[in-house]
Order: sequence, then structure tokens, then C-alpha cells
Amino acid sequence: MERLGMALVGCGSALPAASVSNDQLSGRVDTTDAWIRSRTGITARRVASAEESLTVLASRAAAAALAHAGWQPEDVDLILLATSSPDDLFGSAPRVQAAIGASRAVAFDLTAACSGFLFALITASQYLASGSMRRALVIGADQLSRWVDWDDRSTCVLFGDGSGAVAVEACPGEANGLLGFKMRSDGSRNSCLTLAQLNQYEPLLEGLTTQRGGFSPIQMNGQEVYKFAVREVPAILAELLEATATDAAQLDWLLLHQANQRILDAVADRFAVPHERVLSNLAHYGNTSAATIPLMLDEAVKDGRVQSGHLLASSGFGAGLSWGGALLRWTGPQA
Ligand code: UT7
Repeated sequence: MERLGMALVGCGSALPAASVSNDQLSGRVDTTDAWIRSRTGITARRVASAEESLTVLASRAAAAALAHAGWQPEDVDLILLATSSPDDLFGSAPRVQAAIGASRAVAFDLTAACSGFLFALITASQYLASGSMRRALVIGADQLSRWVDWDDRSTCVLFGDGSGAVAVEACPGEANGLLGFKMRSDGSRNSCLTLAQLNQYEPLLEGLTTQRGGFSPIQMNGQEVYKFAVREVPAILAELLEATATDAAQLDWLLLHQANQRILDAVADRFAVPHERVLSNLAHYGNTSAATIPLMLDEAVKDGRVQSGHLLASSGFGAGLSWGGALLRWTGPQA
């Protein structure tokens, strides 16, 4: 069967209401606005209340993408929810499916930390390319505020909560919005960034000790992850540009995972992309993990920066370690 392309036809996002500034945080943990701003570019982050569950935020983003694409809920065949902080370890995507009334869609979670949205978008493209599904909602949503140690200044200042979604549909080759992709994992460096099981044990029977479920807060070797990002992201994007015979000068935008402004600037400099062509909103939201890329895309589409036909080089990177790149063309409507 001929392989189809994937058009990006709608987007949406949702954020918790409460914004917590660096100054507010410095009253809670030993840090300063000056340190956070100069080392990361972050000035505030959104933090979800108890009522703003992952499912609530993801469903709001998905409903917004659905409306932007002009679809009915029953048009959707597939819902992929990229998240590392589900409300339920069995998966939160089916609850999103129910919340938006997408009764025909199969819905499941995909976990790849900050690479999750990009990996989910690429996964969705394969179902569409094969002709087995026509329309998908790809959501990136995380609430790492629930999994940081608020007394650990080396991690708690970095993360925020949020959700973004993109509506994609199978299309003929000439309308294709995913022009190429690369994905990588390196589990040998897994310990650099973890949200791992607690070491809690329970003797169950003679000779059988089980482990109790539960997770310890996020632990990160920031310097190692930083070095990984500034080495691997330019390398994978260079491979992607070469594989697609694309010159960096042809790119309208760099759409990178929003972890640290210094990382965004370093990647842009490597490709001589002017900094004003690097999409950035981490000053307001911090690192929202799987949500950063669709959240940023939604903001830039809705405010008119990203226009129909624009070419974007995107990269997600983080825990796993995992990283990936995708060359995208926005093919959907504007605001
Ligand atoms: O989405 C997943 C991907 N994650 C990332 O991409 C994160 C990558 N890493 C980074 O962005 C940076 O490594 C950080 C922003 C996390 C840290 O910046 P850094 O320039 O690497 O700082 P550092 O870890 O080397 O720490 C420098 C100093 C240390 O003090 P000493 O030992 O020099 O006295 C830290 O204890 O800064 C101290 N420090 C802080 N001070 C005030 C660490 N966190 C804080 C803080 N406030 N929040």
C-alpha cells in the first residue's frame, strides 16, 4: 500500500491557573531570582492545583486542538498521550478520550519524558502512513510539580505544569507535515535523570520479599544532562537536515524542548539560526516536560508567528536518556 503523509491541522494547549514566580520560590527554598534567571532563563512556572489533574489539563488541550482542526470528537481514531506523570499508572489517555467524547478513538499513554511528545507524534505518523488510521490527537502533558522535591533547589526551580496537543491527519504526500525524523535512546546514561521507584520492601512469604510501589522525587545530574543536550541535540538536527537535504537557512523556526535558554541559544548558534527564530516561552512556564513543544507551537501558531507553510526543526531531549528530531511543516489554520 502507498504510504501517506501526515498533515498538522490543529493545535491547542492548557495551563494551570496559578503562576509561581522565582521570588515566591525563593521564600520557600534557598534560591534567588537572579540565579534562576541567569542559569536558565526561567522567571515563573505554572503549578497545578489539586483539582487541575493531568487528565483535566490534557483534555482541555485536546478539546482545543479538536476545535482548531474543525473536527468532531467522533472523527478521531487515535489519542496518544505523552506523559510521565499520569493520574493513573494504568494510563490516563482513556480518561481524556471519555472527557472529550472521542468514542471511536483508541487511546493510550506513551512515556518518554521530555522526548515524549516528539516520539508520540512520530508514532502517530506511522499509523497514518500505513492507512490504518486517519485522524489522531497527539498530546504532551506533564505535572512534574507533583514529583519534585520542593526542598531540592537544584530541580524544583526548573519544572512547571502544562499540556499541549496537535491534531494530525493522513494526507497525500504533497501536503505532508513530517518531512523527516530521527529518534535515539541511551539507557546506559539513565541515572542522569530519574523519577524512580522507592526502595520500599515488604516480606510477603518465607523467601519472597516484594517491593512496594511508590516513587521518589526527581533526581538529576544537571551538568551531565546539560552537556548531553548541547552535544546530542545539534548532532541529531544536523543528521536530520542532511537526510532531508535541508539547509539551516531554510528553517523558519527552531522548535526545541524548553529546558534552558542557554541550551536553546547554543543549538541556534551551532546552526547560525538568529535567536529571534528560536521559539521560546520557558521564561513564563519553565520546563513542562512532554508539554513544552506542543505548548510552544500552539502559542506561536495562535499569535501568528508560525504560519501555514512554515518549516520548523524540532527536537525533544531528556530522561531515558532519550532524544529526537523532526522536520515539520505547519499545515494547519492560524488563530
Ligand atoms: O528536560 C530535561 C532536560 N533537563 C535539562 O536540560 C537540564 C540541563 N541542566 C541545566 O539546565 C543546568 O545544569 C542547571 C540549570 C540544572 C544548573 O545550572 P549549572 O550552571 O549547571 O549549575 P550547577 O549545577 O553547576 O550549580 C552551580 C552552583 C552550585 O553551587 P556551588 O557548588 O558552585 O557552590 C549549586 O549548588 O549553583 C548552586 N545551585 C543553586 N543556587 C541557587 C543549584 N541550584 C541552585 C538554585 N539556586 N536553584
